Amino acid sequence: MGNNDIFDVSGLVTVITGGASGIGLAVAEVLSAGGASVTLVDRDADALAGAERDLSAGGAEVDIIEADVTETGALSHAFDAVAAKHGRIDVVFANAGIGGGPGFLTGDGARNSSRNFEDLPDAQWDQVMAVNLTGAFHTVQTAARIMKPKGAGKIIVTSSISAFKAEQFVGTPYVVSKAGVAQIVRQAALELAGYGITVNAMAPGPFITNISGGRLKDADARAVFERNIPLRRMGEPDDIKGLALFLASGASDYMTGAHMVIDGGFSLGFAD
Ligand SMILES: NC(=O)c1ccc[n+]([C@@H]2O[C@H](COP(=O)([O-])OP(=O)(O)OC[C@H]3O[C@@H](n4cnc5c(N)ncnc54)[C@H](O)[C@@H]3O)[C@@H](O)[C@H]2O)c1
Repeated sequence: MGNNDIFDVSGLVTVITGGASGIGLAVAEVLSAGGASVTLVDRDADALAGAERDLSAGGAEVDIIEADVTETGALSHAFDAVAAKHGRIDVVFANAGIGGGPGFLTGDGARNSSRNFEDLPDAQWDQVMAVNLTGAFHTVQTAARIMKPKGAGKIIVTSSISAFKAEQFVGTPYVVSKAGVAQIVRQAALELAGYGITVNAMAPGPFITNISGGRLKDADARAVFERNIPLRRMGEPDDIKGLALFLASGASDYMTGAHMVIDGGFSLGFAD
């Protein structure tokens, strides 16, 4: 076996929630380039259509399903459709997620008075929990339901470095939702290991995507992170590809319950 064969994903049946943009779309690109079939599940119909067009132009075997991860019926329906078409699902990326608003500090270090802890709006809290936490929970449940009878499967959840640390520049609802996601990963990994299913997490730092209306693309927002990230740049969607391939392929077979931090060293602290 050549070295690269351990990262082989050809023929795998994969599903990616939030696959129409950013990190999820980069995952779809690397998996389909490796010969996997990919189904993108996303709530954004226009973005799905664009992603399908681009991926199939590159020769990918791609399907799109418009569904919201907060709607359990739609989620089950989507996964059942993939399983009915292919007879199984090998790999699921539970990746759909939304931002939780700005943090309590602005980029220049001043207090952001509109983001005081005591004033954080309930509606935002509820929405972020519904998508990031409960949505991830239901996605892992739905994947497990399909994978368990086969005795095999890989579930990869997009967590965040916000799962492990307090944040100045990231809204509290987001940070709390990802901390919960980290425990879903560990609980599911422990329980499902005996059924041949692994559950791991990618924990990105700041990546330039469309999250929070693309706020991280803004030059001022970028400057703050670029100053504070030891590798001196923010992540680009392409940066996730190696990790996604590792976690989807046999290369990670003996790993479960792990969080793979990918953040340019940001969570280590300030360097220079
Ligand atoms: N960008 C970052 O800095 C960063 C850092 C750490 C973790 N993450 C996580 O990465 C994941 C992907 O985010 P991204 O940065 O690529 O953002 P993005 O906005 O570019 O992509 C997210 C995709 O998820 C979809 N989506 C959102 N809510 C959904 C729902 N309820 N049902 C179905 N689809 C839904 C969106 O339509 C979009 O296509 C999220 O879980 C996010 O929390 C992002």
